[in-house]
Amino acid sequence: MFILLLGAPGSGKGTQGKILAERLSLPKITTGDLLRAAARDGTPLGREAKKFMDDGKLVPDSVILSMIKEELAKPEAQQGAVFDGFPRTAVQAELVDRTLGERTQRLNHILLLDVPEEELVRRMMARAAQEGRSDDTPEAIKTRLQVYQRDTAPLIAHYAERGIVHRVPGNGTVEQIATEIQRVIGR
Ligand code: AP5
Ligand code: MG
Repeated sequence: MFILLLGAPGSGKGTQGKILAERLSLPKITTGDLLRAAARDGTPLGREAKKFMDDGKLVPDSVILSMIKEELAKPEAQQGAVFDGFPRTAVQAELVDRTLGERTQRLNHILLLDVPEEELVRRMMARAAQEGRSDDTPEAIKTRLQVYQRDTAPLIAHYAERGIVHRVPGNGTVEQIATEIQRVIGR
């Protein structure tokens, strides 16, 4: 089973993705974590990506597409996975749809974590104080929210046509939201 967690920055994709992946024994693939690890390691890809991430902009598809291809080709991702933070653009969605399609697979569920903007900002500012993630600054947060609306939110309509989008109210407790996710996907 392939599940995509879709939602604005700070909506809980990482938090809920971890719970879901553990519960269903699926690998979780998180492009943001892969990019942050590459930036920490100072690889050429990481150094290139960090410039965009720190500004709250999307890393160009030219960089991301090969990363997604590589992740989907891994043995542990052949039967299912939880996708956190990708696809995030129409071009990425096309790659994911095509790659799974060639394997006679498809995205089974899209979980849209729906959280009011003031709560998103509150969470990211709280995390900034605790963890110091370099894109949790007021300027980068503003850009990330705009980029989400412009480039990623249109994917909702793309997938809604297939009837696989579940809107999950994302502003309860972590446990309440996890329970709701379990209910909507039926396992
Ligand atoms: P990415 O790492 O994906 O970050 P993001 O989308 O901005 O989202 P976050 O990780 O900030 O939030 P989340 O939804 O995972 O929520 P979380 O569970 O952490 O991407 C970062 C950057 O990398 C992008 O801006 C881009 O530059 C680049 N990038 C990544 N993927 C890319 C792609 N495919 N294409 C191009 N560029 C890409 O929760 C947030 C906080 O709230 C946490 O502190 C958490 O503890 C807390 N929290 C969670 N749930 C609750 C709750 N129910 N109540 C209260 N607090 C909660
Ligand atoms: Mg995350």
